[in-house]
Amino acid sequence: MTAGSANSPGPSSNPVRAAATAEEVFGARQGLFSRAYTGDDDPLNEARLKELFGPQAAMEGPLAPTGIGCRFHGVDVAQRLRAEQAAYLIDALSMHSIVVFAGQDLGRVSLAHFERFANHFGAPQPVPKRVTDGVRDAVNEALAQIAGSEDERLEHLPIPAESSAIYTVTNVEPVTAGSVRVLTPRPRRKSATRRQDISDKVRCEVLWHTDQDHERIACNTTMFLVHKHPAARDSASGNWLGSYPEVDYDTFYRHPDLPEGMEHFHTTDARLVRLRQRNLPLNAETAFADTVAAFEALPGAERDRLEKIRMVKYERPGDDVEGRGYYCPLIRTNPRSGRRMIYSPVYGSRFVLQDIPPPRIEGMSKAETKVFLDELEAHCLQPRFRYNHLHAEGDLVIWDDYALLHCLPPVKIGITHLDDARLYYRIATKGEPVLTLPRRDNREWLLENLNDTYTSPAEILEVGSG
Ligand SMILES: [Fe+2]
Repeated sequence: MTAGSANSPGPSSNPVRAAATAEEVFGARQGLFSRAYTGDDDPLNEARLKELFGPQAAMEGPLAPTGIGCRFHGVDVAQRLRAEQAAYLIDALSMHSIVVFAGQDLGRVSLAHFERFANHFGAPQPVPKRVTDGVRDAVNEALAQIAGSEDERLEHLPIPAESSAIYTVTNVEPVTAGSVRVLTPRPRRKSATRRQDISDKVRCEVLWHTDQDHERIACNTTMFLVHKHPAARDSASGNWLGSYPEVDYDTFYRHPDLPEGMEHFHTTDARLVRLRQRNLPLNAETAFADTVAAFEALPGAERDRLEKIRMVKYERPGDDVEGRGYYCPLIRTNPRSGRRMIYSPVYGSRFVLQDIPPPRIEGMSKAETKVFLDELEAHCLQPRFRYNHLHAEGDLVIWDDYALLHCLPPVKIGITHLDDARLYYRIATKGEPVLTLPRRDNREWLLENLNDTYTSPAEILEVGSG
């Protein structure tokens, strides 16, 4: 049989797509952007921060035991960034994996300011209108239902008219005619849930992931602007949730709506199950696992082996046939920081419920691929690499998706007090960070990697400093 015939696809017949290059994922810049603006050996030191942002600016960190995380004070995200300021902040994210800009005054910092700021880190991912339509009104309706008095009033910030980038993360859901309008999409049965069925319950979905990790170019950052974080604490435990929540592990891992042929998803290594559920946040923190530290902790021979693994991933249902999919390295190196990271070692992606096939490692069967990735995920989820990040109102927090795994915290739903409310605005980005705006992403790249040609409009990029 000749190579390339119908029964024997050869190298010329519809080959697996090449892996996205480091340049496609992180941008072309080698070394820190800040090197172009200062000769300082440590271009991210506090003196330089003050020089760039003023004497009030300060830094605090590391936030996590592995040494990642940096909280900045006195940096106003409503200000337009000069190129050298943007360089500093982009570099800080590359080096620290999680950066927080604390103390933003949300009476002054608008969602347009947030979106302009986000544009420096990557192209904002558009959120489909069907997901965002009516959400602000619905949140405000729910907030009015649970507000105890006029002084407690809280309202969803206005969304800029032409923006498609803002996604609302909240546990505040309005009750209409006895049923809850579920605002945040989740892979549960679609029928409306009766309020009394979920009152005082906890929603908990134990899925460690990287945002859009089934796509050839995943999100490089995810960010929250924190408007309201739960303030209530249980008097006995001192925690928001009180005792440790019962994990609804079946929500995904033995979900009744799992498509046929996804049996692999049902049986998961017991150690991994334990680690996924261990030390989940009790105060609505975002849970992180530091995959840079997890990589560095491996023996040299194992690191070499991981760098040589050839993994094929899939973006669409039915793609797991010969010649489809794309290569995806397990180890990525950020060209600005030089830090190496284990990238999203998760066999069963969240997108399994949309029939996205799990990855395949060349030279391994499906079962072997699963065992291998489950072990690697378990390695990353060990307590020594974990960090639960506590959010505070007025924080703008950005994390580097490639350098971390993250997991949603358990949250109370069916809440009846504003003290239990959680209201964040989220933007995720992809592609090259830029020092100056507007971005110049071309239409074809946007269509291919963001499924849309959305770019932040001039009214957002030119919004005043507030
Ligand atoms: Fe996520």
